[in-house]
Amino acid sequence: MYDNINSDNAEAARQYDFIEKCRQYIEEESRRLNRPLAAAVVTFGCQMNARDSEKLRGILREIGYREGEEETADLVVYNTCTVRENANTRVYGRLGQLKPRKKKNPHMMIGLCGCMMQEPEVVEKLKKSYSFVDIIFGTHNLYKFAEILFTRLESGKRAIDILEGTDKIVENLPNERKYSFKSGINIMFGCNNFCSYCIVPYVRGRERSRRPDAIIAEIRRLVADGVTEVMLLGQNVNSYGKTLEEPMSFARLLQEIEKIEGLRRIRFMTSHPKDLSDELIEVMGKSEKICRHLHLPVQSGSTAILQKMNRRYTKEQYLLLADKLRRGVPGISLTTDIIVGFPGETEEDFQETLDIVRKVRYDSAFTFIYSKRTGTPAAVMEDQVPEDVIKDRFGRLLEEVQKIAGETCALHEGTVQEALIESVSDQDASMVTGRLSNNLLVHIPGDAGMIGRYVKVKLKECKGFYYIGEAV
Ligand code: SAH
Ligand code: SF4
Ligand code: F3S
Repeated sequence: MYDNINSDNAEAARQYDFIEKCRQYIEEESRRLNRPLAAAVVTFGCQMNARDSEKLRGILREIGYREGEEETADLVVYNTCTVRENANTRVYGRLGQLKPRKKKNPHMMIGLCGCMMQEPEVVEKLKKSYSFVDIIFGTHNLYKFAEILFTRLESGKRAIDILEGTDKIVENLPNERKYSFKSGINIMFGCNNFCSYCIVPYVRGRERSRRPDAIIAEIRRLVADGVTEVMLLGQNVNSYGKTLEEPMSFARLLQEIEKIEGLRRIRFMTSHPKDLSDELIEVMGKSEKICRHLHLPVQSGSTAILQKMNRRYTKEQYLLLADKLRRGVPGISLTTDIIVGFPGETEEDFQETLDIVRKVRYDSAFTFIYSKRTGTPAAVMEDQVPEDVIKDRFGRLLEEVQKIAGETCALHEGTVQEALIESVSDQDASMVTGRLSNNLLVHIPGDAGMIGRYVKVKLKECKGFYYIGEAV
């Protein structure tokens, strides 16, 4: 059923062979140590990175590893991110901490994968100065994890395997979900947008969509296994399906997914404003299952900066789109990403950003300080903004964003809404935390038995970006 040009079943079968071979090694090692072996996969990046970690955990489970803590595991895998410089710095810092532990426990293994590994300079640096790392692989050959691990086990030598790019999508490998009741689903990989500041297209490769039948079959399997909420993942979901042999729009895919019985909530991210169609707004407006939330990164409110960013929309076009969404999908919550300090950003440009924030009134926003990524067009642009100016703007933006988020959050105070209970509250063990359709969190009195259930909740008190409520 999954046979198609870009999905490769023979490859999956090959990988299951390697899983079996690794399993024998691990069983032997476990007998020698007289205890089960534990592995920890640490996610450094976005939701796609997190989804990849689940796939790695699934493979490790099949190989025979228990899930362990980073501090004590026999195998530690860092699934890295490189979208901003500080993501890289964190990885090197944590590696430095692992080194002495490995010295004491020579049987221990360290693996590195993810977006950072797609940068040749990074791999060079690791080869030279981090010889205690055992396996290194990239984003394009994640499916080969078992094979690479086997190479390391059999040779006793470090195994490095990086592909520059791929058009392959390997279906049907194991995976281990973090939550029993919700799951992320890749609907596409890579990105073709080349926003001038962004490294993702270089490390994730060209955009390719999974076939709708493979996506639907995966969701059906998940629903049969207890999942009621799915998050469809892609760097730019609005351009889903363009590269398929039989092209299909994202809105059509959503309609097909909506038909799946037993599925209650559909989320997706991320949407690029330039590709958001009227068809999608219409489908969202009518849908019973698509959540009333859209993450629509704006990046900047200045048309001049947007142009330099290669975002391909103007401030006015974005505002029009936000307006259409609010009219077409009543009650929709809008969230965004904003970059401060892009090269050439003047105080006037920054004021435009504050202005768009005030006009759209986001429910929340991720704000980032511009980070120079080697190899991207923006890295060599003139007029890089001085650090103190960026810090000052960043502070002012954050204040505005938080003020507005608090005000929009307060609007729902007193209403009754449905929440999917996700976990016991971090702060108070007598409370559970649920997520509303609009993506905001609510804490209500309850216990672990409620996890995975949908509960009608009265939002009693708004606390800025979450609520205290009670079941009704
Ligand atoms: N594909 C998504 C975003 C992926 S990266 C989209 O286009 O919306 C997530 C966010 O990181 C981006 O929206 C952007 O705000 C931020 N980001 C990406 N590159 C960055 C850089 N070089 N410096 C600072 N922030 C960056
Ligand atoms: Fe990066 Fe732009 Fe692609 Fe998002 S759409 S991943 S910001 S290049
Ligand atoms: Fe980071 Fe790669 Fe995601 S660079 S943001 S983990 S696609």
